[in-house]
Amino acid sequence: MPSLDDATRGRPVFGGDYNPEQWPEETWTEDFRLMREAGVNSVTVGVFSWAKIEPRPGARDFGWLDRLTDLAHGHGVGVVLATPTASPPPWMGARHPETLPRDENGQTVWWGSRQQFCASSPTYRRYAAAITEDLAARYAGHPALTMWHINNEYCTHCWCDETAAHFRRWLRARHGTVEALNEAWGTAFWSQRYDDWEEIIPPRRAQYRRNPAQELDFRRFTSDALMECYVAERDIVARHTPLVPVTTNFMPFWSGQDAWAWSAEEDVVSVDIYPDPKDPLGGQYNAMIGDMTRSQARGPWMLMEQAAGPVNWREVNHPKPRGLNRLLSLQSVARGADAVCYFQWRQSRQGAEKFHSGMLSHAGERGRTFQEVKRIGAELALLEDVVGTRATAGIAVLHDWNSWWAGQQDGRPSREVDYQRLVRAWHRALWESGLATDFAHPEHDLRGYRMVVVPHLYLLTDTAIDNLVSYARGGGTLVCGFFTGVADEHDRVREGGMDARLRALLGIGTVHEWWPLDPDESVSCDGFDATLWSEELSTDGGEVVAAYRGGELDGLAAVLRAGRAWYVSTLPSPPALRALLAGIAEEAGVRPVVEGLPEGVEAVRRGELLFVLNHGREPVTVTVPGTHHDLLTGAEVAGPMELERFGVAVLRETAAGRAVASGTAR
Ligand code: GLA
Repeated sequence: MPSLDDATRGRPVFGGDYNPEQWPEETWTEDFRLMREAGVNSVTVGVFSWAKIEPRPGARDFGWLDRLTDLAHGHGVGVVLATPTASPPPWMGARHPETLPRDENGQTVWWGSRQQFCASSPTYRRYAAAITEDLAARYAGHPALTMWHINNEYCTHCWCDETAAHFRRWLRARHGTVEALNEAWGTAFWSQRYDDWEEIIPPRRAQYRRNPAQELDFRRFTSDALMECYVAERDIVARHTPLVPVTTNFMPFWSGQDAWAWSAEEDVVSVDIYPDPKDPLGGQYNAMIGDMTRSQARGPWMLMEQAAGPVNWREVNHPKPRGLNRLLSLQSVARGADAVCYFQWRQSRQGAEKFHSGMLSHAGERGRTFQEVKRIGAELALLEDVVGTRATAGIAVLHDWNSWWAGQQDGRPSREVDYQRLVRAWHRALWESGLATDFAHPEHDLRGYRMVVVPHLYLLTDTAIDNLVSYARGGGTLVCGFFTGVADEHDRVREGGMDARLRALLGIGTVHEWWPLDPDESVSCDGFDATLWSEELSTDGGEVVAAYRGGELDGLAAVLRAGRAWYVSTLPSPPALRALLAGIAEEAGVRPVVEGLPEGVEAVRRGELLFVLNHGREPVTVTVPGTHHDLLTGAEVAGPMELERFGVAVLRETAAGRAVASGTAR
């Protein structure tokens, strides 16, 4: 099977989306000159080129793309060629209105922007397959072709009649009979019983709350329907070029795609990451998405898009301060990225993204952004040894889209509970403790981890629960956050406030009531403040580690443990969660990557290399035990080393350093 190795060919991939159709051809030569200057070795081309390639139905204009791909090859720049199917040309909507999505109110989503396609539309699929076929046939043997990029950030949703028919086919395959569907959806409630498949529709606008199990299946279906589109195009390109890897870029931690399922269908897992430069925890966010993507890829992954400067889709769009682009790029490499790319190469002058930065911004080649890009390109070229190597972690954070989808619906105990916020809070606690983390699905084999944390998995299948129980009974340390194991795969609530197997594991008797907290409310506990949520639970064998103090829950367990299984029935404040998880990790035998680093300095090990990253705006002095060679500066590092603001060192232990560490030096 092809992999990212086939595209990297032993060197980190560096480049970005390139939209040459927005520029006169004279500019292209200038572009490639500057790309070479910046060390760019890859461009992603064609993402939004459908109307250019197929100006009218069935027509083909490949001349410009031939010239472009030849030019790229002549300059030693590889081409990640995109199927242009994310943005159908206006003629498609005008001639085939059934390809346009309808929202849940039945309103048409028109052309004039992008991504206006219904994933269930046979007409859309037919046109998409035809252009993919011709593109693949034409460029199959092209020497510049390094990878296929299918579509772009699959994210459409549709509630039209074609979608309804497709949804019914999907439901038949899942449930078999209408009776089984009625049972799974709990349609005895509010007279929702279906007598015939034809009565079933997507969850469209309704008078009051809709059926949550129907909504959950619709989320699953939508992810699968989009994946069918991806697989259809992937199979076409793979038939033409079995040795060229295929990817599609994920939005980071995005609710619309079950990326565990999708990544299993990709040769290369790629993602787009846009931390807010103003966010003091932007580095943690970047780390979390890196950890998640590496885990989906089970090895090296591709940073398909990031911004060299500001984006243009936040309320206020902040540029990246000097050094931050480099820091975040190298942080991704540390976490397993073998490809560091951007949206986009040259900043647009027209269109909806003209104020979104590019590697080559409106300020031009003398601009600070381009100068920093050049530095990153030059430094990546020094990191060939990192390519293909693995990063390992002793801790897994469990995450599952099904649980996210089920747990975020209306009609639940608190709308304040936000899945992403909780995952981020738990990852942050581990990140700030200097602990390396992977992500995993609750049904994955977890035996390789010393510690597994579950920030918040409201829905757990029976298989997942058995997996967690056997992991913990087998000697693993398991830490579960609140409102976990409450519902089964159909969003049916389990009795006792939590699945009985989990309660037995965690030493819980009964969860009598959930006591969600208001946004500005907190409750005192032994040693910390509880926020967001609290629980009235009785213990059965569990040892109370911290209790609520005062109020209705006075004396009841906030944190309890039964051997190596822990339950945290609230969201402790950030320092408290950090201290709690760091303490449990230590007991489980998981150590920080490097001990005793100053606040804001991160260490990440990848293969034999140690990345040390300063997330602060001030220089800092760091001491890493041993003697190292810094791949970026060429300097030998023994004893204290200075890291500039947002500075990075990539260290390899010298033979002398290794001897000292193992005690064999004289
Ligand atoms: C996404 C898209 C790109 C571009 C960027 C802007 O990642 O894939 O086409 O719109 O956002 O941030």
